[in-house]
Amino acid sequence: MSDLEILQKEALEAVNKAANLASLDEVRVKYLGKKGLISSQISQIGKLPPKERKNFGAIVNKAKVAVEQSIAAKKEILEDAALNKKLASESVDVSLPIRNEQVGKIHPISRVIDECVAILADMGFSVEEGPEIEDDFHNFTALNIPPNHPARQMQDTFYLPANDGEDPMVLRTHTSSVQIRKMQEGKPPFRFIAPGRVYRSDYDITHTPMFHQIEGLYIDKDIHMGHLKGCLHQFLKAFFEVDEVPLRFRPSFFPFTEPSAEVDIGCARQDGKITIGAGKDWLEILGCGMVHPNVLTNVGIDPEEYQGFAFGLGIERLAMLKYGAPDLRNFFDCDIRWLNHYGFSALNIPSKTGGLA
Ligand code: PHE
Repeated sequence: MSDLEILQKEALEAVNKAANLASLDEVRVKYLGKKGLISSQISQIGKLPPKERKNFGAIVNKAKVAVEQSIAAKKEILEDAALNKKLASESVDVSLPIRNEQVGKIHPISRVIDECVAILADMGFSVEEGPEIEDDFHNFTALNIPPNHPARQMQDTFYLPANDGEDPMVLRTHTSSVQIRKMQEGKPPFRFIAPGRVYRSDYDITHTPMFHQIEGLYIDKDIHMGHLKGCLHQFLKAFFEVDEVPLRFRPSFFPFTEPSAEVDIGCARQDGKITIGAGKDWLEILGCGMVHPNVLTNVGIDPEEYQGFAFGLGIERLAMLKYGAPDLRNFFDCDIRWLNHYGFSALNIPSKTGGLA
């Protein structure tokens, strides 16, 4: 056996023994690398006498090709093995439970506001907004609640620190302040609702210091209490998704409406469950009335020419009744379990017609 044949045999054995890609590469470098044992034989060709070159060249080349082929074949085997090993270690266990997807829910308050807006927008009301930090004039005085009027005690107001000699700003105690702002800004007729946060210093199972109202205002030349009644009737039927809902207008007092009424809806109470629209019980649901002439005068509207109605809905009250959440305070605890239970899928959006999907 020639030296070259021995070298080739050695090389092929080494390839055979290589147990992984790294050692296979070492073999390649040892024999076929720049200074490898076979490569250095190739560089000898030129030094041989011309007669011997051809023969020697052919043998060296054969050895080189044989080793190259064997390395390529072994490389494929080792790569397959490495891939199989990886696949085996990374196999997917299809019986494992899927990863918990955290999909957000719509808060019941947001949902109820959307529902009310959808229904009332269908009835021709636009949506307005006003500031939550309000001045005395818009929250009280313009609404016919002058300073020192006992009606101010009806609501436990949060006052902000005041500058010397100035009236303190307040966290608005109701959305009625938006009535004043919008009537000052525009010209009658007005037909809008104003949803938003309001604040009162109160905390128990049915009160939180922050809660939500929707104000409604309709001012035109010939608006009367029949319109108010019809509007609320239609709204409440659509909101509670019932064909009929008995309404009871109880005389009440708000400084900014005259006459004023609190509206009760007919319901049945059984085993702690309330069914709207049936039964012999009544449930207070909102305050309303015909806008007081003084309020119209305060915003520069002639009450002899224009009149209309206003109402104030408590969003939490509506949400508790429709979706059965018993304790108001939970609405704002930010407990993810409560939100998952009472929240709504973002894909289930109230429709425009008839208000509800
Ligand atoms: N602003 C009243 C409240 O907060 C509700 C109301 C609004 C009553 C409009 C009459 C008219 O209690």
